[in-house]
Amino acid sequence: MTRFEDAFELPNGTIIKNRFFKAAMSEGLADERNRPTEKLVRLYEAWAKGGAGIVVTGNVMVDRRALGEPRNVVIEDEQDLELLKSWASSGTQNNTQLWMQINHPGKQVFKGIVKEAVAPSKVEFEPSLQRYFPIARELTENEIQDIIRRFGATAGVAKTAGFNGVQIHAAHGYLISQFLSNRHNRRKDQWGGSIQNRMRFLEEIYSSIRRKVGDGFPISVKLNSADFMKAGFTEEDSMMVIKRLNELGIDLIEVSGGSYENPRMTGSNMKQSTLKREAYFLDFAAEAIKISKAPIVVTGGFRTRRGMLDALQTRDADMIGLARPMAVYPSLPNELIAGSRKQVQLAPRKTGIKWIDKTAMLELTWYSMQLERIAAGKTPNEKLSPKLALIRSIFKNGMDVFQMRRV
Ligand SMILES: Cc1cc2nc3c(=O)[nH]c(=O)nc-3n(C[C@H](O)[C@H](O)[C@H](O)COP(=O)(O)O)c2cc1C
Repeated sequence: MTRFEDAFELPNGTIIKNRFFKAAMSEGLADERNRPTEKLVRLYEAWAKGGAGIVVTGNVMVDRRALGEPRNVVIEDEQDLELLKSWASSGTQNNTQLWMQINHPGKQVFKGIVKEAVAPSKVEFEPSLQRYFPIARELTENEIQDIIRRFGATAGVAKTAGFNGVQIHAAHGYLISQFLSNRHNRRKDQWGGSIQNRMRFLEEIYSSIRRKVGDGFPISVKLNSADFMKAGFTEEDSMMVIKRLNELGIDLIEVSGGSYENPRMTGSNMKQSTLKREAYFLDFAAEAIKISKAPIVVTGGFRTRRGMLDALQTRDADMIGLARPMAVYPSLPNELIAGSRKQVQLAPRKTGIKWIDKTAMLELTWYSMQLERIAAGKTPNEKLSPKLALIRSIFKNGMDVFQMRRV
């Protein structure tokens, strides 16, 4: 029977000390030039001490012309190496594997953040989102090659700085996920059409990173089980990608789902009755694990010690992915291993104002504010007022983007 504290080995021989995986949460804590800060150093020290076997950073961008949010960390070259080294050294304490998540948002970026949004094809978001996002331009062949190279370059710098691994963000509707989706990728060249063509961009990114970091360095992928959109990325597509990633030598796969158009990753639009288990994508993961040599992590919805243990013991997942719970309880892995905490209660954050409570924005701002507290050396505050998060949100983003926030 697998226990939380059971160490295990990745296919490349890397030992992971336990079964907890702190999933990526965009911190928004870089400075105005998108460099890492002391705040990030403090935040990752707290998570490293908190006991997770693998801690993944929030998404780091490969191109400063393609930010997802104003305060993302960007790595294009080695100019911020010393700052990155401090970040890596704080997050690798306590025998923690610190992996950098690497991303390009493609067209999933709010108006005003980038000068020009790019995408595999010029396909608009579904109507209710069109006012928030710019219309994207189709990428040229040279630009596609440049982005592939950039992923490799960023990963190379992560390794030099002392991060133990990287994660390619291929989920949640960002650029790689746009390439994977039939709905968003209408290309007629080698990058579009069949799933073999749609996954070529991800394959090339994987190979570009592998060339830079060598064989012994873990590369993982965060992948949607599906995007839950009409004519979008399906579970069958996802299985094909998992199979191919295994052939290429991927070290670990994190399963999630959804995008801004249907944010299933945070449990939105899921009826309680359709949720058979507390984790949203566990049924898919149970199938994926059968065909994957690389360990499978499931992220989204885990809240009880029992639910997490069940998932491990029935081998529906090799690791338990945790995001929001780690913003409020940074030492949750230690507490679950010790048995001192049986569950976390994270009620949806409500203001009492109906139209606002329907949106995901407030909830995500609320969690970001917890990250800021940890980064400032304070303890998270479970009782933090959602109304404060609301005011903060409007102040930071304006009313227009209020309904949306990155995940
Ligand atoms: C504030 C916040 C920021 C997030 N940023 C990212 C991100 O940068 N990359 C990513 O893959 N997922 C991101 N996510 C999604 C989480 O990794 C995770 O998939 C989701 O929250 C569901 O897991 P949970 O129920 O344990 O929170 C973010 C979630 C939150 C709450």
